[in-house]
Amino acid sequence: MRRPIIAGNWKMNNTASEGVALIEALKPLVQDANCDVAVCVPAIDIPAAAEALKGSNIALGAQNVHFAKKGAYTGEISADMLKEYGVTYVIIGHSERRQYFGETDETVNKRTLAAIEAGLTPIVCIGETLEERETGKTEAVLARQIENGLKDIEDLTKIVIAYEPVWAIGTGRTATAEQANETIGYIRKQLAEKFCPKCAEKVRIQYGGSMNAGNCKELMAMPEIDGGLIGGASLKPNDFAAIVNFDK
Ligand code: 13P
Repeated sequence: MRRPIIAGNWKMNNTASEGVALIEALKPLVQDANCDVAVCVPAIDIPAAAEALKGSNIALGAQNVHFAKKGAYTGEISADMLKEYGVTYVIIGHSERRQYFGETDETVNKRTLAAIEAGLTPIVCIGETLEERETGKTEAVLARQIENGLKDIEDLTKIVIAYEPVWAIGTGRTATAEQANETIGYIRKQLAEKFCPKCAEKVRIQYGGSMNAGNCKELMAMPEIDGGLIGGASLKPNDFAAIVNFDK
């Protein structure tokens, strides 16, 4: 049985004090969760968020990490810097980073390997654009992202994968539960072929893209879907809590 994981991706929202207020509102609402819960916050919010999350069942995540241990990389943040504040998860290769900040499968791979090496759990994002889906390229794109982005990972169970169809992110247009389930099933099949069937069975694969309080139950009922990476709805304590408590 794979334990579900619901993670919030705040993206570039919430100052540190706004983030603390959100966390304080959230804590009592999710304290009886039957799944892993995390919030992935802007880097500068991490110290305050770490303090606010102490003693709670909510883990702390970051939204990116550099692949070098340290050095002349102005503006970047290393895995050790995140670890010192108790960060456990880090989102890698989000489509917004691929689209706006030049992230490629190769840099995703370097970041992922560096995060694992440092003992962080990467949440590696993959997914096709609308044009790719409409021209029948979804499987080829995912296969390429898996092949190149996850190269040389020795233990696949050390990562979480987030399947986020780009056309469903922030658009209110969710993949249907069947669509998401089928595509995540394809991802798992690829992992079985490229890594090993046993680890493919164990690795947790989230769905992300306009997941909300209204559609989470249907999505989470699907056998291949092991959780959610939540954008907009993670900014509202009640909405995020409703997703975390999808089984209640
Ligand atoms: P939305 O939930 O706002 O569509 O964002 C999804 C996402 O990109 C999570 O990483």
